[in-house]
Amino acid sequence: MANEMWGGRFAEGPAAIMQEINASIGFDKRLAAQDIRGSMAHAEMLAAQGIIDPQSAEAIIQGLGKVKQEIDAGAFTFKTSLEDIHMNVEARLAEIIGAPAGRLHTARSRNDQVATDFRLWVRDTIDAIDAALGDLQQALCEKALQHSGTVMPGFTHLQSAQPVTFGHHLMAYVEMLGRDRGRFRDARARLNECPLGAAALAGTSFPIDRMRTAKWLGFDRPTANSLDSVSDRDFVLETLAAASILAMHLSRFAEEIVIWTTPQFAFIALSDKFTTGSSIMPQKRNPDAAELVRAKTGRIFGAMVGMLTVMKGLALAYAKDMQEDKEPTFDALDALALALAATAGMVRDMEPDAKRLKKAAGSGYATATDLADWLVRTLKMPFREAHHVTGRIVGLASARGIDLEKLSLAEMQGVEPRITAEIFDVLGVLNSVRSRTSYGGTAPANVRAQAKRWLARLAKDRAARQARPLA
Ligand code: ARG
Repeated sequence: MANEMWGGRFAEGPAAIMQEINASIGFDKRLAAQDIRGSMAHAEMLAAQGIIDPQSAEAIIQGLGKVKQEIDAGAFTFKTSLEDIHMNVEARLAEIIGAPAGRLHTARSRNDQVATDFRLWVRDTIDAIDAALGDLQQALCEKALQHSGTVMPGFTHLQSAQPVTFGHHLMAYVEMLGRDRGRFRDARARLNECPLGAAALAGTSFPIDRMRTAKWLGFDRPTANSLDSVSDRDFVLETLAAASILAMHLSRFAEEIVIWTTPQFAFIALSDKFTTGSSIMPQKRNPDAAELVRAKTGRIFGAMVGMLTVMKGLALAYAKDMQEDKEPTFDALDALALALAATAGMVRDMEPDAKRLKKAAGSGYATATDLADWLVRTLKMPFREAHHVTGRIVGLASARGIDLEKLSLAEMQGVEPRITAEIFDVLGVLNSVRSRTSYGGTAPANVRAQAKRWLARLAKDRAARQARPLA
């Protein structure tokens, strides 16, 4: 049987395989709420403009509410023969309200309809991601505040470099996530234009009011060019790009969690809640959540590259290729939401081993730079020379297999006679981090101030979000 929605000129139905490759209902049913919102806005506008009669519009809006209820209750039968969410909703509407349903599709096409639905969905999802990012930042700031004075080794090349504080390390991620939120906000601001009313590609001869539907749906304005309206998926790409950068950040942190929880490092412990055991090796406690956060990056980057590839060869305007925008986007943003929640869970769960961290922070002559800085500051030695002198002192300690501060004053004076006992003030790891008071440095006081600044800002963000009316 030919398609009941568009089958006028078709005598036969599609081949089974045609139906299978063509149908999107299996995944675009996730757009149901957005599709119904868009249709309600459209019907309201059609009546306000006198394009359809108010009774029909009323019946359509009521009926769409009913369809929404059925879908929410799981009582809706999605039909592959109706291809996609748009026709499934419209066909059910016709069953419920009869003839007036046929007026809904006046002055629109599935092309502007799907562009609108998907923008709404991506916008809703960006808002959810922003809230999840705020929660992760909150968890990091709280942990950082608790550990503003917990020293740990700071690394470059994954070699012990200089002592830092655990709180400072966590706050680095708060900054990254702050930029991520900025990127999502930028994407949201640019996507917030309404394509509805562009119709198939050329606009429409009906006297529609695109400002009205745009406003109804919480968009800032209608899109300006009908061809661009139905063929643009930049909003998906920008969102996936922001998601990719965020996933990369989460993956770096996850990698650190994996390293930190190995018995060889044992910098932090995760509880039973965020680890798994091995079915064969009873001693094991594996950081699977961190590993999976690291791995989810693959599908998120994949979605972005996939989407760029789908779009790159498409002549204007709409082509069915664009139906391939949804599955990878749903999948990537679902994975991202999961990764964000799991990371926040691990942050709240993790317990740093302060003793071990402190010991590790002092190993590998991590305060050698402090010694060199002391020579520069106190003896007015040029830094290059101080670097050389320090190197010789480190050599001495290393030859004896002891830490820098375990050398005697006399031994250090053997290398540089002007060194005084004050040198010991900068050689301990705590003194080292306390001295890093430059703006953005690791000094515990800096870390506390930074964490408190962020916590205040996060509280303000949350209040603003609660005050914002839902679109
Ligand atoms: N399911 C389609 C999509 O996701 C909706 C638009 C279909 N338009 C069309 N002219 N066949 O892109």
